[in-house]
Parts: sequence; structure tokens; C-alpha cells
Amino acid sequence: MSHLVAPSLLSADFANLRNDIEMVNRSEADWFHIDVMDGVFVPNISFGIPVIKQIKKYAQKPLDVHLMIIDPDRYFEKFKNAGADIISVHYEACTHLHKSIQAIKLLGLKAGVAINPHTNINLLENIISDVDIVLVMSVNPGFGGQKFIKNTYSKIKQLKQIINKAGSSSLIEVDGGVTLSNAADLIKAGTNVLVAGYTIFSSQNPEKTISELKSKE
Ligand code: DX5
Ligand code: ZN
Repeated sequence: MSHLVAPSLLSADFANLRNDIEMVNRSEADWFHIDVMDGVFVPNISFGIPVIKQIKKYAQKPLDVHLMIIDPDRYFEKFKNAGADIISVHYEACTHLHKSIQAIKLLGLKAGVAINPHTNINLLENIISDVDIVLVMSVNPGFGGQKFIKNTYSKIKQLKQIINKAGSSSLIEVDGGVTLSNAADLIKAGTNVLVAGYTIFSSQNPEKTISELKSKE
């Protein structure tokens, strides 16, 4: 399978969100990446359920919802009703991660686990057969436009081994600091889904940048 590209709306123009959504619809992008932040798990607040409902009205591709919030289980059904197709929760925010992942799947959604840069990837060994996606954070979550953390490459390689050993079909999604310069190396290391916010929305021609990210190999 060739890799997917998921533009992160965190860097979109919130005053003209519909324009950016339609640009992503027209583009070669595969998913919309949607970052929800609570100001507790991460030091920033982004947007929530009412905004996602509006995005869903126009989005013609799956909504990949990345929850950077504590106690996320309280909201799974609400995010589903708002239009989420994929929900990822943080390893660091879930005391009962297995239960959280099952709850997402019971709603008929794809379930992902997100992992912070400092967290040992081997800690996912006992959940890897249950998840559809591992979202490897390549910056500390909370903000767009940060610098890529290079240690991510070795984490992706280790994760690939864990996935193969378990016979899991989990996808590897990389989020934070993805650029036109590191995308090819990330794909070579085993990345299946590239998330990109700043790289896409700060470029002169976002649709073309998406196409360039898609054609990396
Ligand atoms: C950061 C978010 C990312 C962010 C990535 O907490 O999870 O999805 O939007 O943005 P860039 O691509 O700008 O680093
Ligand atoms: Zn994200």
C-alpha cells in the first residue's frame, strides 16, 4: 500500500475553514487530521465537537480525530456523532487503554493509540493487536509548526518490528514537523500515514504541496 497524507487542519485558516476543507477535498490527500486539545493534557486549547460537526458538513474524506485530552472515553460517542471516522487516544492519557480502544471499536470506528516522543515504543507491545493505527508523535503535542524530533526514525523502525512480530495490520502514522525534506525518509523507515499542518497550509500552493507529499517514495 502506498502511503497516505493527512493534512492537519490545526494550521488551516479558521476564518475561512470551508475554503481549506474544499482545497483538501480537491487534493490528493486521503484524510483530514483533526487535533483536539483540552489545555490540560497539552498546554493549548484548539477546538471541539461543534467545529468538527461543521467540518463534517463539507469534508468528503475521512476525519482522523487525534484526541489530546484527559479522560477521553467520556466523549467517544459525541465525537462519533460529530462525524469522526478514526479516533486516536494518547497512551499517556488512558489508564485503561485496552478498554478505551475497545470502546472506540464498539462504536464502529477505527481506533488509534498516540504516543509522545519520550514514551518507550515497546510499551505498545500488549495493545498492538487491538489497534488500527499507532500515531507516533514526532514533536511534543500541543502546537503546529514545531521542529521534527529525529529520534522518531528509530521509534518507527522498532514499531515496525513490534507490528510484524504480532502479525498486526496496524498503520504507522507520524505527526509533527513533517516536511518535504523528511517525508521520503519517514516513508522508508516504515511510515504509512504522513500528517502535515504547517508544511501544507503555509505553502504558496497547498494543493501542490499535498501532491508532492503524496509522490514521495
Ligand atoms: C500537534 C498536532 C499535530 C500538528 C502537526 O500537537 O498533533 O497534528 O498539527 O503540525 P505540523 O505539521 O505543523 O508540525
Ligand atoms: Zn495531531
